[in-house]
Amino acid sequence: MSTVSAGPLESLDQWDDDVRARYRPDRKKEEFRVYDDKTPQVVRDFYKLNHENQTLEFVLAKKAEYTPLNHGEMSIWDAMERLDKLVDDSDPDTDLSQIEHNLQTAEAMRADGHPRWMILTGFIHDLGKVLTLYGEPQWAVVGDTFPVGCRWSDKIVYPEYFENNPDSANPELMSPYGVYDEQIGLDNIHMSWGHDEYLYHVTKPYLPEAALYMIRYHSWYSAHRELDYQYLMSDHDLEMMNEVRKFNPYDLYSKSAAKPDRAALEPYYRELIAEFFPPTLKW
Ligand SMILES: [Fe+2]
Ligand SMILES: [Fe+2]
Repeated sequence: MSTVSAGPLESLDQWDDDVRARYRPDRKKEEFRVYDDKTPQVVRDFYKLNHENQTLEFVLAKKAEYTPLNHGEMSIWDAMERLDKLVDDSDPDTDLSQIEHNLQTAEAMRADGHPRWMILTGFIHDLGKVLTLYGEPQWAVVGDTFPVGCRWSDKIVYPEYFENNPDSANPELMSPYGVYDEQIGLDNIHMSWGHDEYLYHVTKPYLPEAALYMIRYHSWYSAHRELDYQYLMSDHDLEMMNEVRKFNPYDLYSKSAAKPDRAALEPYYRELIAEFFPPTLKW
């Protein structure tokens, strides 16, 4: 059984590893372009597919398909284990399993004294990658996210790949505000489709607002890292993006070779999940 989702990446994790390397704390902004040129061809091919195919029409179709949450019932822990198996099978060289990586992210938050809801968010934030189980291609599961329906920021990685996106031929979609208005608020804009947006819809009834911003916008580097797109945000969004910025370093920089003790930690995380979520959720 093949568990690798369709696309050029050797595994889903290859994109996450690329982001980690790109935003290494010691890398200067001027060096990003040099870094991009050295990026493996498969990662560049992946971004090309992502940028060419994430149109407003595509996003609206995926939202219509998935946001009714009629793809079954599953517990958070089951989703975690299915994703764990999927990524491990596709990436035999990985030093850490998905669960171990999620534990590292969450444990780093716990060590810094963050609230329980945030530790839980660190643990589950990538669970939307179960989209792969439904046969979605890599470019519709992972990748830096961005709004569709308006002009793309030149701060998005490989902006030149948008050239062949059909939306580029529609002047209405290519103005700075596109189909939106100034400061319309993030809840009214459509983000490119992937694991972030999907998990937001799955977890919306159960988590505090800051957790939902962290989940929904954690891959939107052109906004939370490069500070673009503020003209679409309400004052409240601008405040909540600070929460996303608190989350991001744990996602990027908590990966270390030291294996967390899964067996010892599992009871704590099962209890934490049970505190916020029902036994099963709609996906
Ligand atoms: Fe992610
Ligand atoms: Fe992540």
